[in-house]
Amino acid sequence: MNLITKFNLILFFTFTISFTIGGYYSYQLTEDNALQQVTDQAELIMQEALAIRSYTVNEIRPLLNKNNDGLFHPQTVPAYSATQTSNLVRKTRPEYIYKEAVFNPTNPRNNATVREEKIINKFKADPKLVKQVGSYTLRGKKSHYIAYPIKITNPKCLGCHSSSENAPKAMLAIYGDKGGFGWKLNEIVGTQIVVVPYKLPAKLARKTFYSFLVALALLFMTLFIVINIMIRILVLKPITVMTQLADNLSKGNITGSELEILGEDEISDLSRSFNRMRRSVIKIIQILRKQKKSGQ
Ligand code: HEC
Repeated sequence: MNLITKFNLILFFTFTISFTIGGYYSYQLTEDNALQQVTDQAELIMQEALAIRSYTVNEIRPLLNKNNDGLFHPQTVPAYSATQTSNLVRKTRPEYIYKEAVFNPTNPRNNATVREEKIINKFKADPKLVKQVGSYTLRGKKSHYIAYPIKITNPKCLGCHSSSENAPKAMLAIYGDKGGFGWKLNEIVGTQIVVVPYKLPAKLARKTFYSFLVALALLFMTLFIVINIMIRILVLKPITVMTQLADNLSKGNITGSELEILGEDEISDLSRSFNRMRRSVIKIIQILRKQKKSGQ
């Protein structure tokens, strides 16, 4: 096997190993990044929902209550405003969901689905659990969710959610007396859940991953070509010339010029030594030839 084939085989193995290890780690990294991105998005939506809730309680409710018109305004209810604004966003981004899901809710749209029921039951079973994160397929698309428990810690909540007898009549006129009652202090009644699609970050992650692989392959290809050219010019060419000269010399052919010395590397050192050796061999050959002549 010649030198260049050996070099190329070593390069090829190095490339394959680096490609596999680098590819594996970069895949993990881009997947982690995609997950981080969707989690961030979900957290942001959750923060926005919480902000809308407190805006409702602190700014909208006092204003509307001033009216004292005897009417019940759902706009004063934080669960209403957070869900309502999120539903407006869903008109253009249907995959993004914010929901306050409970069993037997005041407003039927807040009814927990089977999946949400499982999340709520997990919170109920483990009161120390403050957050659940996971993913599932929603209408054929992979989605990511974060969920927090809804715990009744404020006795004021019971003014509307304990029983229909205690709830404001104006509220019952709108919502009826069936849902949203029977809640107790410190009870976990539901979950605040945000669902975000995984499609876009996953697509971006895959794109980053493929670009990395292409860049790695290009880098290796360039290296491969450059190393091949360098080996041919710097090593193989001088060695071929030296071999030819040594061949000639071994056959007693002392014509031809000395090796050209270029630069100051190991090959030029070898060429210099070779030239010295050639001169000595030529001298010996000449002496031998003279002796042969005078002997005749
Ligand atoms: C003035 C009455 C009132 C008070 C006080 C009140 N709520 Fe509500 N709550 C409502 C109404 C009405 C709805 C339905 C809103 C809608 O149409 O989406 C609701 C809905 C909810 C929902 C969504 C699920 C459902 O039942 O539809 C949650 C969760 C909730 N409330 C939690 C609370 C918590 C926690 C408190 C105390 C901090 C509280 N509520 C205090 C009236 C009230």
